[in-house]
Amino acid sequence: MTKVSPSMLSADFSRLGEEVRRVESAGADWIHIDVMDGMFVPNITIGPVVIESIRPLTGLPFDVHLMIEDPLRYLDSFAEAGADILTVHAEAGGDVRGAMDRIHELGLKAGISLNPDTPVDVLEPFLPLADLVLVMTVQPGFGGQAFRESGIPKIAWLSRWAETSGQDLDISVDGGINRDTGRRCAEAGATVLAAGSSLFRLQDMTSEIALWKTFGARKG
Ligand code: DX5
Ligand code: ZN
Repeated sequence: MTKVSPSMLSADFSRLGEEVRRVESAGADWIHIDVMDGMFVPNITIGPVVIESIRPLTGLPFDVHLMIEDPLRYLDSFAEAGADILTVHAEAGGDVRGAMDRIHELGLKAGISLNPDTPVDVLEPFLPLADLVLVMTVQPGFGGQAFRESGIPKIAWLSRWAETSGQDLDISVDGGINRDTGRRCAEAGATVLAAGSSLFRLQDMTSEIALWKTFGARKG
């Protein structure tokens, strides 16, 4: 089944703990946490202290999306704070391969992400090191933007790569995901749907998450 990873960027931060519990009881598989440094993207969000504070509230995996420059500097802090998956950007600068190796040394799953305008073949050298690829379908930095179609052929390409190589690779998609775009991404081969505004705007996201999990089910 397709996994659903609600993005806490769209949560009510004045009630963050309750929002974590709400997402868990609605049936989320993972919790997507967006970390922004004001350098790699023009916005600043949260860091390890906030992740540490919500860690005791749920057993769900923390899917931490690092939109920060030279992420190698902060991987140990995010691991200590309780991250389960750490995703770095191919465009983040610094030693990307070294960062992915360090994530594995820390005992976590390593993800690699790419921006909408970055061609998918940039990922090729990193794929053998990756547990997850995060395809951005908006320019990272803010929630609530419109889905960009450039992600669909990238997902299909990655899905073929995973099939050919036989590697266990999650293909996640992030940005403008709703019922329609989520279904299309899952049909193209996405295994994880990360979504903020379209889920958090719902009073109760339970049935929506249940529906999304059935997308792409033909893949078994
Ligand atoms: C954007 C973040 C996304 C964001 C998605 O930079 O990486 O995770 O929260 O929000 P929506 O689903 O509203 O596009
Ligand atoms: Zn994200």
